Amino acid sequence: MAFLEVKNVCKGFGPSWQRSEVLHDINLQIEEGEFVAIIGYSGAGKTTLMSMLAGLTTPDSGEILFEGKQMDGPGPDRGIVFQNYSLLPWLSVYENVALAVDQVFPQWTPAERQAHTEKYIGMVNLTPALKKVPAELSGGMRQRVSVARTLAMTPHILLLDEPLGALDALTRGTLQDELSRICQEDKKTVVLITNDPDEAIYLADRVIPLTAGPRATLGPSIPITLARPRDRRLFNENYEFKQIRNEIVNYLLKARPRDTTGILTKLVLPDIEPEDISGPRGSHRPRSAGPIRRAEIAAVNVETSLKP
Ligand SMILES: Nc1ncnc2c1ncn2[C@@H]1O[C@H](COP(=O)(O)OP(=O)(O)OP(=O)(O)O)[C@@H](O)[C@H]1O
Ligand SMILES: [Mg+2]
Repeated sequence: MAFLEVKNVCKGFGPSWQRSEVLHDINLQIEEGEFVAIIGYSGAGKTTLMSMLAGLTTPDSGEILFEGKQMDGPGPDRGIVFQNYSLLPWLSVYENVALAVDQVFPQWTPAERQAHTEKYIGMVNLTPALKKVPAELSGGMRQRVSVARTLAMTPHILLLDEPLGALDALTRGTLQDELSRICQEDKKTVVLITNDPDEAIYLADRVIPLTAGPRATLGPSIPITLARPRDRRLFNENYEFKQIRNEIVNYLLKARPRDTTGILTKLVLPDIEPEDISGPRGSHRPRSAGPIRRAEIAAVNVETSLKP
């Protein structure tokens, strides 16, 4: 049995009479220690899927099994890092992480909890910023606090919902390196949501595309066989990388949102002509007669003095 198993899951929103299905027939199996990236279009339902994997929302149909048991609400065994940093703005870096550690490990001594908190803040290179509050941090630093807080809870599975999406390319690259190092060292089971094929290939053991919504579903699993540790600088000359990238991009292009700009219904226009307003208002036709119908307009033969 897989570590995390999603079976025939569907999920929609709205009341039953006009429910729109966001995710359709999602099937996924993740083994312990695997790093799986799910890549898809914006609005396809990636966060919806992640919320279900975290136990924050329930599927309409189908089931999710985690470590062999039916998913039953959220728990500290599943750590989620959201798209926005979701830090408590009035707490310092240390306090944001310590709060989670205190809740998950209440049986530890204060000294043990402090050492654990500091270890994870150090892991994301934020020790010099321990006392700063989120408003004093850059976006990348905030995201690192968020990652440290989740890792410090030592979850069995790490759910990362576009954790680096809001960052500039350079900061993003640095954080990808840190994430890769931490996940490899800890041999964590990870589900990463991203919209960046390069990020997915750099970090994951497997990439699964999510088709465009509505009724988005998961495509085939694409194994990333590139050796670790990976060096992104060599990717551009690497044939295998280019092939995997093409496969992912081509699949997503085929599964892109349908073009809805074409005319689907023939419109029948009302049988009326615009009112002639060139003369004095109401001089030609009483207002009560309503708009002129095309059938009312008599054909007029106009004689012309032009000779052929
Ligand atoms: N609580 C909700 N109520 C109603 N509709 C919702 C709710 N949550 C999400 N949706 C709808 O479900 C669809 C998928 O949303 P979701 O946030 O999962 O997409 P996403 O792939 O994470 O997008 P993005 O890449 O922008 O983060 C969207 O059309 C969204 O409007
Ligand atoms: Mg999202």
